[in-house]
Amino acid sequence: METIRTQVGIIGAGPAGLTLALLLEKQGIQSVIIENRSREYVENRVRAGLLEYNTVEVFDNLGAAERLHQEGLVHHGCYISYNGKSQHIDFAKHTQKEVTIYGQQEVVKDLIKACSERGIDILFEAEATQIEGCESENPVIHFTYKGENLSIACDFVGGCDGFHGLGRKTLPKESYNEFKIEYPFSWLGILAHAVPSYEELIYAYHSNGFALASLRSEKISRLYLQVDNDDSVANWSDEKIWDELENRLGIQLNRGEIFEKSITPMRSFMIDNMQYGRLFLAGDAAHIVPPTGAKGLNLAVADVSALANGLIQFYQSSEQTLLDNYSRKCVARVWRVQDFSNFMTYLCHKQSDEGSFESLLQKSKFDYLTISEAYQKTIAENYVGFPFDTFN
Ligand code: APR
Ligand code: PHB
Repeated sequence: METIRTQVGIIGAGPAGLTLALLLEKQGIQSVIIENRSREYVENRVRAGLLEYNTVEVFDNLGAAERLHQEGLVHHGCYISYNGKSQHIDFAKHTQKEVTIYGQQEVVKDLIKACSERGIDILFEAEATQIEGCESENPVIHFTYKGENLSIACDFVGGCDGFHGLGRKTLPKESYNEFKIEYPFSWLGILAHAVPSYEELIYAYHSNGFALASLRSEKISRLYLQVDNDDSVANWSDEKIWDELENRLGIQLNRGEIFEKSITPMRSFMIDNMQYGRLFLAGDAAHIVPPTGAKGLNLAVADVSALANGLIQFYQSSEQTLLDNYSRKCVARVWRVQDFSNFMTYLCHKQSDEGSFESLLQKSKFDYLTISEAYQKTIAENYVGFPFDTFN
């Protein structure tokens, strides 16, 4: 059985694993990534597409943001609307910051390209099967690759393997508490060859349910509708989707060919410990947020920035304070983002009959939003993201 030797063994070539490998490489720390899907699969997996300014800064510092700056769209605000009445949230005014619209699969393509240019090995279609010796100084990742059983002997393991990965399953159950909410609604998302008829994102509450108008480029619209968890794309013809989007958003849309249509359930999930010995979890492996606010990728990048800092400190000075504090620091940010994502979800989705106490409280939040700069600022500062050194 062949053994590969490296400093940091990384499981998962999503945004977390790829960014971690590049941050380490920049400081001369070696890693190997194993990914159980094919390169084509991970490069084409459609997910959200909104980057906090922090996230863009990380990619900038890695020298992996050239295409992002060419093709990404910088947004200085968004709209939140209630039954057609719209409130602008001005990020520039309240935070002097902005966000960038750029699809996650484009981020993944750029990061994979940067890894290959810098000699970082990514083994695709390689599935981690066991992580051994986390409590020792020599953990080992066992994996299968082209029908063979292989292993990576390393100093540290980055569990960047997403919600269904092996990393979290390897943490002792008694080392963490688990928290979750399964929401009673899902998102029907579409991508369409249609010039967006709006300049900024619109989050819309409507008595029929939530709708979100987003985009991927000047020619591609990305839109979502709240649907029931047991709904199916077969129930939604293209025409019905466009009609319902226009109804809920209260605007006319440029209709174009819909080339992707899927339904995603919504959940909040987290554990309150992200490390065990020399195994460190990052990204979706440790937490999932509902997509309202598009925080998933941003949180993954914040995690691996903190992890890379800890590993760099360890290799440069043999000190371990940053690694020891990794989980505590990340979890503090995760709670903030969980709260914001949950807040945006409950604010904008239809949950109860109009006229009920809950729905009138929800409406009163919108009314408050239209009169309070403070409330707008609260949303703006969470939306653009807090600086990485906020949570210490
Ligand atoms: N062996 C190897 N690879 C694995 C294994 C395994 N046993 N289990 C999972 N993986 C891979 C998955 O195939 C996936 O490509 O780990 C990768 C994890 O990547 P992501 O799911 O993209 O998670 P992460 O990098 O944390 O990025 C978080 O992605 O899921 C979205 O919305 C989320 O935007 C957020 C971001
Ligand atoms: C997206 O463009 O996919 C998107 C944008 C904002 C969100 C969620 C998803 O809040």
